Amino acid sequence: PRKIIIDTDPGQDDAVAILLALASPEDVTVLGITAVAGNVPLALTEKNARIICELAGKPETRVFAGCDRPLARKLVTAEHVHGKTGLDGPQLAAPTMPLQPQHAVDFLIDTLRAEPAHTVTLCVLGPLTNIAEAFRRAPDIIGRVQQIVLMGGAYFEVGNITPAAEFNIYVDPEAAEIVFKSGIPLVVMPLDVTHKALTTRARIEAFRALGTEPGRMVAEWTDFFERFDMQKYGSEGAPLHDPCVIAYLIDPALFKGRHINVEIETTSALTLGMTVADWWGVTDRPANALFIGDLDADGFYTLLIDRIGRL
Ligand code: BDR
Ligand code: CA
Repeated sequence: PRKIIIDTDPGQDDAVAILLALASPEDVTVLGITAVAGNVPLALTEKNARIICELAGKPETRVFAGCDRPLARKLVTAEHVHGKTGLDGPQLAAPTMPLQPQHAVDFLIDTLRAEPAHTVTLCVLGPLTNIAEAFRRAPDIIGRVQQIVLMGGAYFEVGNITPAAEFNIYVDPEAAEIVFKSGIPLVVMPLDVTHKALTTRARIEAFRALGTEPGRMVAEWTDFFERFDMQKYGSEGAPLHDPCVIAYLIDPALFKGRHINVEIETTSALTLGMTVADWWGVTDRPANALFIGDLDADGFYTLLIDRIGRL
């Protein structure tokens, strides 16, 4: 199995991604989960991460709290999407498993130094603050990362938090720029692909029909999500963004993309946080990312439902 660290701001879709990873020990070993401020403030995202580990029956998973604000800006949150707790939908009990005492950034640095080079993959499901801060503080770890698979950005599907920008990149564009310029092999799941991973009624009911506690929770979370997206996009089903990252590690054949150059806008007031993706190769800027544009949605949900059903 591939060794991974999940960096996250749960978030219902982050929660499903974490469940997928914890349900798939033959494919991924979760070295730790690092929480960051994003969808909701850090005090909630680290708590939510622990709730999810307990729901998966894996309270031994190590959860670390990281940065409580972006590198250079005020935190923007998304309660309008995820609710006040970040995990609105079902009733959830407070977690009893402990938060690790170490700061998430120190955990990232220590782990990348301790593990053999190129054996740890970073799975990033929120703003890139923790990762960029670790690279800033310990540039020696950059060359040790095996790969970064992240959910963020958009091209043809443009923005979901502003007309030009996707939430994870918009919240901390300076951090995103550090990561996109790092030279590490990047796989990027933009809105272009996640807007094809829709939670239709039949898919939500398939989670519920698992008859397990995690299955019921996923159904209630996606029900909550769906309500928002019906109003916003008028589509049947909401995009389940973050699980695309974990699904890619388990079965990359579900996804299609192009190796292209992607740069981050960090100055324009109008297009701050835009991922300027050279999809048509109109510049000679070197490719820095595998930018995913399509997925086999049925295959993706079959995988998700099967794996969540094992918990
Ligand atoms: C991303 O923003 C968050 O609201 C979701 O959890 C996802 O990571 C989608 O733009
Ligand atoms: Ca997220």
